[in-house]
Amino acid sequence: MTQSNGVANPILILGGTGEARALAAALVQSGRRVMSSLAGRTANPLMPEGEVRIGGFGGVEGLARYLRDERIGLLIDATHPFAAQISANAVAAAKVADVPLVRLERPQWLCPRGAEWIEVEEMAQAADVLPAGANVFLAIGRQEIASFFHRTDCRFTARVIEPPETAPEGWTIIGARGPFPVQAEIDLLALHGFTHMVAKNSGAAASHDKILAAAELGIPVVMVKRPSLPPARSFESVKTLLDYIDQAGLPN
Ligand SMILES: NC(=O)c1ccc[n+]([C@@H]2O[C@H](COP(=O)([O-])OP(=O)(O)OC[C@H]3O[C@@H](n4cnc5c(N)ncnc54)[C@H](OP(=O)(O)O)[C@@H]3O)[C@@H](O)[C@H]2O)c1
Repeated sequence: MTQSNGVANPILILGGTGEARALAAALVQSGRRVMSSLAGRTANPLMPEGEVRIGGFGGVEGLARYLRDERIGLLIDATHPFAAQISANAVAAAKVADVPLVRLERPQWLCPRGAEWIEVEEMAQAADVLPAGANVFLAIGRQEIASFFHRTDCRFTARVIEPPETAPEGWTIIGARGPFPVQAEIDLLALHGFTHMVAKNSGAAASHDKILAAAELGIPVVMVKRPSLPPARSFESVKTLLDYIDQAGLPN
């Protein structure tokens, strides 16, 4: 897709992840015009290279309109694997606006040898499977901690980038942005004497060390499985996606 003045149409990256920033940087370096979209959930997001817009589009219709108005030549869904709504919207809007869509979908983490994982379908189930008296490390971000508020029979420590609006009395909130090296994770888990960890199977390299640390200490992990997404042409790494974009001559 090329504009009438011969200039290639921009690429829109739906971002909010480290890989999305890496993609934006590589595509900007290759001379392409890149726009990244962030949801606006965090007050001080790490900013990608290239142009950036912040905030929702207004559902499928809004995103399709944006794709058309901005003459987007390629839509890349590089959002977090648990951001299911925007990924579904991307598939639908790309179809409506007739814009090619590719998805960056990193592989899931696998249970390390000898480690104990309790796999659950959703966060509410994670709260259900914790035994009474558990001392729990929540490594799930800020948005879904309310799923655990009713478990007054357990102790909770939540690690978050930004403080949550509210948390029950007695909860410990650790404000920190990763990556955290494996030894630091082992020290943290041991220091607090956690009996359980709750995590989402994001597959991110930057946050995998907590999984290795839990395995090392024999701490069971309640692992929330990924939501299912509508099919899209998907790539497991920034490199394979960039290779495809080059080979396919996108945006064309
Ligand atoms: N969910 C997680 O665990 C997680 C973890 C780390 C980072 N993130 C990042 O945080 C953002 C929000 O995640 P979520 O799980 O809340 O999303 P979500 O539930 O899939 O999306 C909810 C709504 O937020 C808006 N939205 C989401 N991502 C957007 C983006 N990149 N640009 C513009 N609008 C966006 C869309 O609003 P409209 O319908 O109005 O367009 C969407 O319908 C994403 O960028 C994601 O990559 C999420």
